[in-house]
Amino acid sequence: MRRRVAVLVSGGGSNLQAIIDAERGGALPHVELAVVVSSSKGAFALRRAEEAGVKTCVLERGYVDGRFDGVGYDEGLCAILRENGIEVVVLAGFLVVLGAGVLDAWKNRIINVHPSLLPSFGGAGCYGLNVHKRALERGVKVSGATVHIVDGALDGGRILEQRAVAVRPGDVPETLQRRVMEEAEWIILPQALEVLCETL
Ligand code: GRF
Repeated sequence: MRRRVAVLVSGGGSNLQAIIDAERGGALPHVELAVVVSSSKGAFALRRAEEAGVKTCVLERGYVDGRFDGVGYDEGLCAILRENGIEVVVLAGFLVVLGAGVLDAWKNRIINVHPSLLPSFGGAGCYGLNVHKRALERGVKVSGATVHIVDGALDGGRILEQRAVAVRPGDVPETLQRRVMEEAEWIILPQALEVLCETL
């Protein structure tokens, strides 16, 4: 049975593109890419979705008295996911921390791709290029990517897939990030999504 999937994005969407390409190539028989939700209206990920004919939706952060309205965002996201009959949620570079409403309603059905071998270089402050900066500063010889279940703990949910990538002499954060994306993220995210959708 195909499962209706939402991919949540905020930026370039290269991981979304990996899912789109995998689905087009027939590698995701249990996945129906139903909607892409972006926290930013300018995200290039939205262009990728439109190009692929996937429904898109933008839900930007709201603020109350100058503070991010996390409860309101959570309610808005729940409404969008419900309206689209979503069964599985993928975070692909999504920069908003999910609230209890979404976490509880899609418990054990939300996955995230993180650009390190968790639990190394996970948690507060570890996102984007900063992950690779910290890994290089630590001197690791192997890095990689992780796909995990999203629960209340930042980067703390059950690990579903990991893939290692060698750090090369002379690597800078940008070169390591690119290699981790190409050789790990873009491979394990579609794979983990298919396995999750098949086994629900
Ligand atoms: C990726 O490096 C991913 O590991 C992290 O955010 C980045 C998103 O990149 N969560 P993209 O938007 O999928 O290109």
